Amino acid sequence: MKILNKIENDDIAISWDEIANIRYEEINSGRDTTYNHILMPIFHHELKSLKPKKVLDAGCGLGFITKDISKFSKYVVGVDLSSRSIDMARQHNSSENIEYKCSSVEGLKYIEEFDVVISNMVLMDCVDHRSFLRACYKMLAPGGTLIATITNPNVWPRYWGYEKYSWFSYHSTIHILAEFQSSGAGKSGHKAIHTHRPLSDYLNAFSETGFEMLNISEITGSIVRSKIISKLPRYIKFKFTKTTNGAML
Ligand SMILES: C[S@@+](CC[C@H](N)C(=O)[O-])C[C@H]1O[C@@H](n2cnc3c(N)ncnc32)[C@H](O)[C@@H]1O
Repeated sequence: MKILNKIENDDIAISWDEIANIRYEEINSGRDTTYNHILMPIFHHELKSLKPKKVLDAGCGLGFITKDISKFSKYVVGVDLSSRSIDMARQHNSSENIEYKCSSVEGLKYIEEFDVVISNMVLMDCVDHRSFLRACYKMLAPGGTLIATITNPNVWPRYWGYEKYSWFSYHSTIHILAEFQSSGAGKSGHKAIHTHRPLSDYLNAFSETGFEMLNISEITGSIVRSKIISKLPRYIKFKFTKTTNGAML
């Protein structure tokens, strides 16, 4: 485990390029039980009930969730920094109504195009969650919905084992380079960058951007009946809207 003073989009892209093959195998084989039984169903159920016309999957990775939610959407754009992930998404998770783009979310030029923006496990992996959220807000149509999940910053430091280090301080922003591991598949042998931010930093960023909260859920393993998991909420799901009258920026 190593602390990085500064991170850039290129560092993030490289780390997800390197791990793309392994992540594909972990998710596709079902070995990443959390992904398949906790995270993916969240978006499945939300989108099944929203039935949107146009969705942006912001930080879509290998496109597993993009493909799944494309069943309930007319058109989906999946965007990610990692070119390897996007190549693999095009190869394995394509559909006629999906367009994959290799770009930063902040680099996209859409304006008020999407009625739903989803983002699974990206806000704590991006360089700057404020500019990421501003970009999502700009691309969301008034009245649209943003659904995003993150690792819970109140649980993750203990779960991931960095709470014990002297450099850890809950209220700080800390970029941590550590071996990627998932609950079912274990250690991957590859490093990924995770940024710790206090929960208040996420909530303030949503509100500063102009989003209005619909609800927040603390996700434990109990949402699925299976052998998985911990008693504490390892994940948080945010559901926000862009009000029709409150546009900011
Ligand atoms: C934990 S992975 C999640 C991938 C995908 N959402 C999924 O559910 O499989 C985080 C992803 O966010 C992407 N990412 C981080 N910052 C980004 C940004 N600013 N714009 C686009 N993608 C970004 C990374 O390249 C990586 O693929």
